[in-house]
Amino acid sequence: MSALPWGLLPDSAEVGDRGQLLIGGCDVAELAAEFGTPLFIYDEDQLRVRCREAVAAFGDGVAYASKAFLCRAMARLAHEEGMHLDVASGGELLVALSAGVPAERIVLHGNNKSDDELIAAREAGVGRIVVDSLDELDRLDGLHAADGLVPRILLRITPGVEAHTHEFVMTGQDDSKFGFGVMVGAAAQAVERAQESAAVELMGLHAHIGSQVFVAGFYEQAIHTLAPIVNELRLPELSVGGGIGVAYLEGEHAPSLTEWGDVVRSACASAGITARVSAEPGRAIAAAAAITVYRVGTIKQLPGIRTYVACDGGFIDNPRPALYGAGYETFLPERVQADRTEVVRLVGKHCESGDVLVPEAKVPPGLAVGDLIATPVTGAYGRTMGSNYNALGRPAVVFVHDGEARVVIRRETDQDLLLTDVG
Ligand code: LLP
Repeated sequence: MSALPWGLLPDSAEVGDRGQLLIGGCDVAELAAEFGTPLFIYDEDQLRVRCREAVAAFGDGVAYASKAFLCRAMARLAHEEGMHLDVASGGELLVALSAGVPAERIVLHGNNKSDDELIAAREAGVGRIVVDSLDELDRLDGLHAADGLVPRILLRITPGVEAHTHEFVMTGQDDSKFGFGVMVGAAAQAVERAQESAAVELMGLHAHIGSQVFVAGFYEQAIHTLAPIVNELRLPELSVGGGIGVAYLEGEHAPSLTEWGDVVRSACASAGITARVSAEPGRAIAAAAAITVYRVGTIKQLPGIRTYVACDGGFIDNPRPALYGAGYETFLPERVQADRTEVVRLVGKHCESGDVLVPEAKVPPGLAVGDLIATPVTGAYGRTMGSNYNALGRPAVVFVHDGEARVVIRRETDQDLLLTDVG
């Protein structure tokens, strides 16, 4: 049993003189004392560096998939670093616009966009709408008849690629609720339909094969399937979506944004694609930039069975273990380099046995009630997928940089929980 692999911590991680963890020059335990727990701590510089890496790898047009982690500070940061923003609902669009992201740098997704979402996006003038169905094309025709607006669109194509990842986040296979299937002939029909429509300007194709994909080669397959359509119709754009994986656990290795970009670009070149190629990473930008810090409240030793360590968060701040069986490492911020020689089950405070954060959590000896315990690589699909189950407020989020911490999402209060309850 070993100490936490250092590479799973944010780039700015340092060890203080007491063996404690610092991120962005801030002592994690002091942040926990000041802002409370559970707490998401993001290394702001790392977010910026990853955005710049994405822009360098794919060029102008590469979009940050905001569903991974969104608040106004994050939207602004991605925009400042040159990324476009991918939003998947009217709500995400609202956050991006209210952060000051220019509409023409926003891409709207969704397999069932409402009229209100389409109207908001068209009136704001979003850069691209990624159209997912013939019904959506019909709806855009109807809206155009009323106001004459002609948005630029991409068509979401399902290339028939089964990227090996969790079934719930696989999207490129034929049997999917997303997009128009190449194999089933829907893609050709959609292209024809969009080209005939006066209500849209068809700019290109989009394909998102899945999320937490470790093998960049799956993108080559998708590109080779899409190339004949893009080339034959001389469409100016192709987006390969998001999905490149990140390492969560000791021993995992994922391609970098740069390596992913190289694979995509060379696959496009070999398929003769001259269209502008872009992508939409979410996880690869945000996941590894953050840790979640919890405080231990209860420890139960069940002789001959196991030890349960209950913290003050749970599957409302990180539903990924419960939903996908996703694994995380654990460490103690006050002893970040300590050997983790014991195995406990890290659970939350919710009233379900499935509220498990880490089933086999490695910890150093001597873990006690009141200690801080943390999970690294929690910057994507944690806070954004959180809920208020058991009428508990969602955690605060702080950005740290150069010894300074700023709250970008404040902790939800009891008053927040009553806000929408109007009975
Ligand atoms: N583009 C589209 C159209 C997407 O649907 C997604 C993710 C992305 C880009 C960004 O994918 P990323 O680079 O972050 O993998 N909640 C799941 C992941 C769901 C992904 C949904 N779509 C998880 O926690 O693993």
